[in-house]
Amino acid sequence: MKTLVEFIWEQQEIVGTATGEFSRLLNDIGIAAKIVNRDVNRAGLSGIIGDDGGVNVQGENQKKLDVMANNEFIKALRNGKQCAAIISEENDDVIVFDDKTTKNAKYIVALDPLDGSSNIEVNVSIGTIFAIYKRKSIGTTITKEDVLQAGTELVCGGYVIYGSSTMLIYTTGFGVHGFTYDPTCGIFILSHPDIKITDTGNIYSINEANYIYFPEGVKRYIKYCQEDDATTNRPYTSRYIGSLVSDFHRNLLRGGIYMYPGNLKNPQGKLRLMYECVPMAFLAEQAGGKASDGFQRILDMQPEHIHQRSPLFIGSKSMVEKAESLMREFSPDFLDAE
Ligand code: AHG
Ligand code: MN
Ligand code: MN
Repeated sequence: MKTLVEFIWEQQEIVGTATGEFSRLLNDIGIAAKIVNRDVNRAGLSGIIGDDGGVNVQGENQKKLDVMANNEFIKALRNGKQCAAIISEENDDVIVFDDKTTKNAKYIVALDPLDGSSNIEVNVSIGTIFAIYKRKSIGTTITKEDVLQAGTELVCGGYVIYGSSTMLIYTTGFGVHGFTYDPTCGIFILSHPDIKITDTGNIYSINEANYIYFPEGVKRYIKYCQEDDATTNRPYTSRYIGSLVSDFHRNLLRGGIYMYPGNLKNPQGKLRLMYECVPMAFLAEQAGGKASDGFQRILDMQPEHIHQRSPLFIGSKSMVEKAESLMREFSPDFLDAE
């Protein structure tokens, strides 16, 4: 039996970067995850279901649990002192820690504290997504270059899924590893070492209600998924929960593709590049899969602002490549047409 903390240390020692700072940072994320797990589990009993009354920078109504999860992660990262700044879906601006110790911390965390929060009331799996960057400017104030880093600079990407069991999955570029939370002793235990996604699968996940607004390339791909062809195991099966974390997690373990494309109303789609697309893209690639905006690799994209959105096609490599080829053929100018 190996715990999350033991495993992080072991991995850091293998790559020779064991100063303890990153291990502490990931451990802090684990601590916040346990608290959020408790809150999510007891939400129906403790009056924390429903809207908070606030609206975030993307104009979405904040749920009480969105706000609570955000506060728990900020608190754990502030107390842990390894994180100099946080980018969060629930905060308009970058949160910069400027106390004596923390302002020199090496890392920056981008966070979707609670993903799939429209599913909170109905007891469906939700999650937390996180991305960890190393800051570039040590000893000065946080700069734009520290905050707006491309996915290729990522140190760690991961998520926590609050599901029928709670799991923490992460990668630091040396494979994807999954830990299941044992609530009886309060620790994350390695249960899914070195997760790999199959090259192809038979699940496609997309909110098909938006069909009429989709680019022609996406419409063609959906039809491709629905065609009868025994040699490629089609028609595929359709699964869509509406929590990126849950949809991605299932497809990672089973093989499949998740898509949140741009559409005529929102050409850049809905998902946020820095704290939804990029960490999931790092995980997908590390598991042997692929992540694209339909035309280019998600990890190569240079963010221009912290809440930037991006279309996302992610999962089994061959499936993402097929969707990309139809996007190129039938909707080559879709993202330029904004
Ligand atoms: P969040 O709860 O963090 O705002 O994210 C919700 C996202 C994502 O998790 C999910 O896949 C997608 O929104 C669902 O959107 P639709 O309802 O438009 O399908
Ligand atoms: Mn989200
Ligand atoms: Mn969220």
